[in-house]
Amino acid sequence: MGFDRLASSYDTAFAERPVARILRARTHERIAAQLTPGMRALDIGCGTGIDAAWMAGRGAIVTALDSSGAMLDRARSRIGAQAPVTFVQADLNALRQSAPSGPYDLVLANFGALNAASDLATVGVWLADCVRSGGWVGMAVMSRFCAWETLWQAVHLHPRAAMRRWGGRADFGRITVFYPSQRALVSALTPAFRLEWRAGLGVFLPPSEMFGVVEARPRLLARVQQWDATAWRSGRLAWAADHLWLEFRRT
Ligand SMILES: C[S@@+](CC[C@H](N)C(=O)[O-])C[C@H]1O[C@@H](n2cnc3c(N)ncnc32)[C@H](O)[C@@H]1O
Repeated sequence: MGFDRLASSYDTAFAERPVARILRARTHERIAAQLTPGMRALDIGCGTGIDAAWMAGRGAIVTALDSSGAMLDRARSRIGAQAPVTFVQADLNALRQSAPSGPYDLVLANFGALNAASDLATVGVWLADCVRSGGWVGMAVMSRFCAWETLWQAVHLHPRAAMRRWGGRADFGRITVFYPSQRALVSALTPAFRLEWRAGLGVFLPPSEMFGVVEARPRLLARVQQWDATAWRSGRLAWAADHLWLEFRRT
C-alpha cells in the first residue's frame, strides 16, 4: 500500500515542518472549540497519530482509523497504551467491510485524508450513520485549485504539475489522489449535515512541496504567515488555498 512507504518519513517530511505546524495549530483551534472531555472522536486517516494524540490529551475517547498498517504502527507508538485510543485499520474505499459505526460526537479528517476517497457519496452515508445528531465534522481536503502550486510550477515550466489537480484526480505512483470541489464535498454530506464554516488552509503559505521556499526565509515566512492567518480568519480566498477546511454539523 502506497502510504505504508511514506509512514517512516511522514513526520520529518511534512508534519514536523514549521509551515505544517502553523497550519495544524489553526485546525486545533477550531477543533478545541468543539471538543469537551469524554467526547467520542473519530480521526479518519489518522496517519502518525498527531491529532488522535492531541484529542486524547484533551480527554476525548478517540478512534484512530487508517488503511495503512505502517501509519497505524507509528500512531500506536506515539500514543502508547495508556491513552483511550482505539486503532482501526479500515479503507475509506471499502467501508462496508471494516468501518467503525460510532456513534461519534466529533469527526476529523485532517490534511488530505479524504483525498483518498473515490466515492464521497458513500463516505457521506457512512458519516451520517455514525455521527450523532448535533455532532461536528471538520475536514482539511486538498483543493481543486492551489494558486501557489499552479504559479510555482508554471514559472518553473512544469505545466502538467501546474494543472495536475484540475481534472479532479492525479496518480503518484501507487497513490491516487482525488481533488473534490467544495460543491462535491457539500453535496456528499447534505442533507444529513449542514455546512457551518469554511476557510482556506495555505492561501499564502505554500503546499508541502514548496515549504522550503518560505522556511529558508524567516522574514518572508513571518509576512506570509500573517497574510495567511488573515485569509483564514475571514474565510476569504479559500478557493485559492492548498487545503479547503470545512466544518459541518449533523442535523
Ligand atoms: C496525508 S495523510 C494525513 C494524515 C493525518 N490526518 C495528518 O493530519 O497528518 C493521509 C492519511 O490517509 C490515509 N489513507 C490513505 N488512503 C486511505 C484509505 N483509502 N482509507 C483510509 N485511510 C487512508 C493514509 O494512510 C494517511 O495516513
